[in-house]
Order: sequence, then structure tokens, then C-alpha cells
Amino acid sequence: MAETRGMAVAAQQNRRVRGGGGVRSAVLWDALRTVLDRIAPQGPSDVLDVGGGTGGFAVPLAGLGHRVTVVDASPDALAALERRAAEAGVTVRGVQGDAADVPDLLGAQSADLVLCHNVLEYVDDPAATMTALTGTLRPGGSLSVLVTGQVGAVVQRALAGHFDDARHVLADPAGRYGPQDRLPRRFTRASLTDLVAATGLSVGELHGVRIFADLLPGAALEDADTAEALIALESAAAVHPVLRELASQLHLVADRR
Ligand SMILES: C[S@@+](CC[C@H](N)C(=O)[O-])C[C@H]1O[C@@H](n2cnc3c(N)ncnc32)[C@H](O)[C@@H]1O
Repeated sequence: MAETRGMAVAAQQNRRVRGGGGVRSAVLWDALRTVLDRIAPQGPSDVLDVGGGTGGFAVPLAGLGHRVTVVDASPDALAALERRAAEAGVTVRGVQGDAADVPDLLGAQSADLVLCHNVLEYVDDPAATMTALTGTLRPGGSLSVLVTGQVGAVVQRALAGHFDDARHVLADPAGRYGPQDRLPRRFTRASLTDLVAATGLSVGELHGVRIFADLLPGAALEDADTAEALIALESAAAVHPVLRELASQLHLVADRR
């Protein structure tokens, strides 16, 4: 029964990616599927989702049959994750803790795939966090890192008419537009690549995620044919050396040989 429900979650994820609502996440899910096909061609993987929050990635991955553990600092997020997983009919283990402590919490070399999505913006020490996450990877495993892009934020603030904010994001080393900015830091292609490369992992090609989708009115993403065309454009532009830096989010996969 749980397996049937899990397959339904996976099918729903596929429909969302291929329909209008999944345009924003299509490039990322394609990249994750490629990684999973490579590291676990024969069956389920041990996936660790650090800062996994309410399970936006963890629950669909469990639906695909993987053994998923979320480590998150927030008890509220973990409670919401538990509810979401139960509604989807899948099991996700939730552990409260800090990203920098994951080897102590879960053991060294305990994961085939480690996700660190939309978390490095908030942690006290991104380099220490990267070192900790690397320690949990098995040989042959991969780390998937997703962060908010600094250059993309400049474009978005400017197009919204917030020209002073855009200028501040551009000039600030942390990519912030001021004290009212809710994000402690944003990343560029260079700063993210340097951070991940310092772990000693083999760093793959950087992908830009949501280059155009966040610049368009929501209605433009609703029509299924338009959504398919936009997904194709986003996929093609994701590795373009200029366009990828304009993306809302930057995605890197790094492998432990
Ligand atoms: C923006 S949410 C991202 C959630 C999920 N990864 C996603 O991409 O949908 C950031 C999450 O990171 C968690 N977080 C922030 N700092 C953390 C830390 N130092 N250790 C563990 N979790 C942390 C927060 O509680 C929150 O759930």
C-alpha cells in the first residue's frame, strides 16, 4: 500500500514537472534524476536532505523509493514534514540538529546523496557546513547544492523597480540589499564553485535554475504548451555561460570519487 502511494507521489511529481506548475523546478528535478540514475542504477539510495524543511524535496524522493533522512534545525518544520509525509503515504526520518553536526548525528559516510538546498544562505559558517556534509558522503556519492543567486537578484530587484536595492545587491560582498533583506547571503557562480571545490569533491558544471520563470507573470506558466516550451528553454539556458548566472538559483553537483 505504502509502495503504491509512493509511486503515486512520484507520478504526481512527474506530472508537476511536465505541467505548468513545475516549470520552476523542472531543471533541478532533471539534474537530481540524472544523479540518482548514476549513483543508484539498481535501486534505492540513502538520501540525506540537510535543512530539508517541510519536505519539498524529501517527500517526492521518498515517493521514488529512496530512504530519506531530513536534518533540520526547526522542530516546526520537522512536524510539518511528518504530516506531509503521512499524507503522501511515505516514510521520511526527521532529525533535529544543525547542518554542521551531521557526521556526529548520522555517522560518517552514511549517505549516497546529500541535498543542501536553500540552506547555505542561512548557516553560520558555509565552509564548515560543506566540510561536515562531505564527511557524510560515501565514496561514489554526490552532493547537490542549491543556493540563491546574487546576479539574478540584481535583475529581479531592478525589474521590480527597486533600483537602489539592485545596486546594493550588486555591490555587497554578501549580495544583500540592506538590513531589511531577509537573506543573510547570496552566491555567485565563482563564490559557490570555490566553496564546494574547497571540500576536495569533484565539482560538476554549474546550472542556472529559473532563469526566465521568475521574471514572467504567473499566468504565463499556466498553459501546458507554454510551460513545455519554457522548460525546454530553461534546460537549454541552464548551462549557458552567461545566462546561467542570471538565474534565481544556482545548482551544483559534486561527487566523491
Ligand atoms: C529556505 S528553507 C529550505 C527548505 C528545503 N531545503 C527546500 O529547499 O525547500 C531553509 C531550511 O533550512 C533550515 N536551517 C537553517 N539553518 C540551519 C542549520 N544551521 N542547520 C540545519 N537546518 C537549518 C531551516 O530550518 C529551514 O527549514
